[in-house]
Amino acid sequence: MSRKHFGAVLLGFVLMGGVVPRALAAPPQAAAKAPSLYTQMGGYDAISAVTNDFITRLATDPQLGKFFVGLNDASKQRVQQHVIDFLCNATGGPCLYLGQDMKTAHKGLHITDAEWNISVQHLVETLNKFKVPQAQQTAVMGAISALKGDIVGQ
Ligand code: HEM
Repeated sequence: MSRKHFGAVLLGFVLMGGVVPRALAAPPQAAAKAPSLYTQMGGYDAISAVTNDFITRLATDPQLGKFFVGLNDASKQRVQQHVIDFLCNATGGPCLYLGQDMKTAHKGLHITDAEWNISVQHLVETLNKFKVPQAQQTAVMGAISALKGDIVGQ
C-alpha cells in the first residue's frame, strides 16, 4: 500500500470509528434536559406562594388546626420557610433544605390517613387557586404521595 493510500485508509478508519462523526453529529436527544418541576411551577416565588396558601389552609382547618396550636409565631415562620425550602429542593430548585427529615418532623404528631386525605384536598384547592396546569399538578401530587409513609402514622 502506498503512503497516500495508507493515509486515506487510516482517515476512513478514524471517521468510521466514530471519532470525528460523533463530534460532528447533532447531540443525542437525551441531552436536551427537560426543565425541572421547580421551573415548570414558576420558580421560587410561585412555590413560596403555593406553600404559604397550603400551610394557611392546614393551620386554619377545623380538623387539622390542632397540629399547629402550640407553635409560636417564630416557630410557624420557621416551619413555613422550611416547607418552602423543602419543596423548592424536592422539585429540583436551587434551595438548600436544612430542616428535619420528614419522619422526624412529623414524629409524635400521629397524623391519620383521614387527616392526610384532608391535607391532600387542601393541596388540590391551592394548586387550582394558582391555576397550576394539570400535568404539573399530577407531578406535585406524585412527589407528595411518595412522602406519605414518612408523614402519616408517625
Ligand atoms: C403534604 C406534605 C407535607 C410536607 C411536604 C411537609 C413538610 C414539612 C416540613 C418541611 C416541616 C418542617 C420541619 C422542620 O422545621 O425541621 C414540617 C413540619 C410540620 N408539619 Fe408537615 N409536611 C406535610 C404534611 C403535613 C400534614 C398533613 C400535617 C398535619 C396535618 C403537617 C404538620 C406539621 C407540623 C405540625 C409541623 C411542625 C413540627 C414542629 O416543628 O414541631 N405536615 N412539615
